[in-house]
Amino acid sequence: MSTEIRFGVIGLGLMGREFASAAARWIHLTDLDVRPVLIGACDTSEKAFEWFRTNVTSLRILTTNYQELLARDDIDAIYCAIPHHLHAQVYCDIIRAGKHLLGEKPFGIDLAANEKITDAIRQNPKVLVRCSSELPFYPGGIAIIRSLLEEDFGDIVEVESGLLHSSDLNPDKPINWKRIIEFNGEYGCMGDLGMHALHVPLRFGWFPSRVRAQLTKIVKERPDGKGGKVPCKTWDNATIFGEVDLPGSHSFPITFHTKRIAPGETNTWFLKVIGTKRSMAFSTKYPRTLQVMEYKSGGVQAWQQIDLGYQSAYATITGGIFEFGFTDSILQMWAAYCDELAHGRHDMQQPFYCATPEEAHQTHLVFTEALRSHATAWKG
Ligand SMILES: NC(=O)c1ccc[n+]([C@@H]2O[C@H](COP(=O)([O-])OP(=O)(O)OC[C@H]3O[C@@H](n4cnc5c(N)ncnc54)[C@H](O)[C@@H]3O)[C@@H](O)[C@H]2O)c1
Repeated sequence: MSTEIRFGVIGLGLMGREFASAAARWIHLTDLDVRPVLIGACDTSEKAFEWFRTNVTSLRILTTNYQELLARDDIDAIYCAIPHHLHAQVYCDIIRAGKHLLGEKPFGIDLAANEKITDAIRQNPKVLVRCSSELPFYPGGIAIIRSLLEEDFGDIVEVESGLLHSSDLNPDKPINWKRIIEFNGEYGCMGDLGMHALHVPLRFGWFPSRVRAQLTKIVKERPDGKGGKVPCKTWDNATIFGEVDLPGSHSFPITFHTKRIAPGETNTWFLKVIGTKRSMAFSTKYPRTLQVMEYKSGGVQAWQQIDLGYQSAYATITGGIFEFGFTDSILQMWAAYCDELAHGRHDMQQPFYCATPEEAHQTHLVFTEALRSHATAWKG
C-alpha cells in the first residue's frame, strides 16, 4: 500500500503540466511506496484550466486564488511554477501555511527576494522545501554523482557545467515574461538556467569563492506579438568563471554556462569533472553516452564511451537498453522529492536528493556576484 501525498499545483503552464503528467505516469516507477495525488490546481488565467479539467481526474478544486489551496486540510504539499517576480510572496505564503513545497527555480527574482524565502523556511522548519532541478537525474548525471560519492577522482583539476538553449536565436520569436526584466529579473538567463548548471557542483561543496562573469545581450528587441517591437533587456548568455578553494587542499577553476543563444542546442545540460585519477563527462545531447577516463600514474590516458541506457536513480518498468528523456528526468526528480518527504533524507532509496533552499541561495550569491563583476570588470 503506498502512502499518498496530496498536492496542490500553483501555475498551470509549461511546468505545471509536466508535474501533472509525471504524477499520472507514476505506475512507471516500480519500487516506490509513496505517490503524489493532485487534489487542487490554481492559475490566474482560467484558460489553463481546461487541460487540467480534462486530464486530471483526482482534482477537487480549480481556482484562480492560490490562498484557497493553502487553506485546505486535504492538501499536504504544493508544486509552484509561476513567474519569478511572484516567487517571494507566494513561496512565503505556502511555507507559512505549513505546506511542503517543491518550488521552481530561481527561488526569488533576486537576492533580496530569495532571502525572504530563506527567512520563511527558517521560521517553519517542519516543512520540506526543495527547488526543482531535474536534469541531474539523467542516468549520466546520476552516474557522475554516484561516482563522486564513491570513487577517488584524485585532485579535481577543473569542473565545467551548463545549460544551453537556442530558440532565442530566432529574432522573430515574440517576447514573453522570460525576456522581461520586471518578471524574469536582472539575472536574465542565469536566473532561468543557472540552477541546472550549479546544482551538482554545489552539492559537492564547489561554491566558488571568486567569480567573474561575461554576460551578453544579443537580440536587443523582439516582436511584441501585436505587430510592433519592444526592447529585450534580459541577458541572453552568461559564462561565469569561478575559483573553488578546497579547505586544506588546492583551488581549481569552475565554469558555468547559461545560454539562451547557443546555436543548435535545444536543452543541453552538461557536466564535466576532470580529476587527476578519474574524469567524467555527460551531456543530454547524447543521452546514453557517459564518458569516463581512469588514470593511474604513467598509464594510458583513454576516454571510454559507455552506453548507459536507462539506468535511473529510481527503478522503473523501462528496460535498461532503452533511452531516457526529459520527461523521465521530471519523473525521477518527483520520485526523489516524494521519497524524501515520506522517509527523510537519510532513509531515501538512493542518495541524490532534490536541490535544497541553501543551494538555491548559493546560486543567488553567484548570480549577484556575476552581475557585479560584469558591471565592473569588463567595462572600459
Ligand atoms: N525545471 C525546469 O526545467 C523549468 C523549465 C521551464 C521553466 N521553469 C520554471 O518554472 C516556473 C514557471 O515557468 P513556466 O515555463 O511553467 O511558465 P509558464 O508561463 O508556462 O506558466 C506560468 C503560469 O503561472 C500562471 N500564473 C501567473 N501568476 C500566477 C498567480 N499569481 N497564481 C497562479 N498562477 C499564476 C500563469 O498564468 C501561467 O499559466 C519559473 O520559475 C521557471 O523558471 C523550470
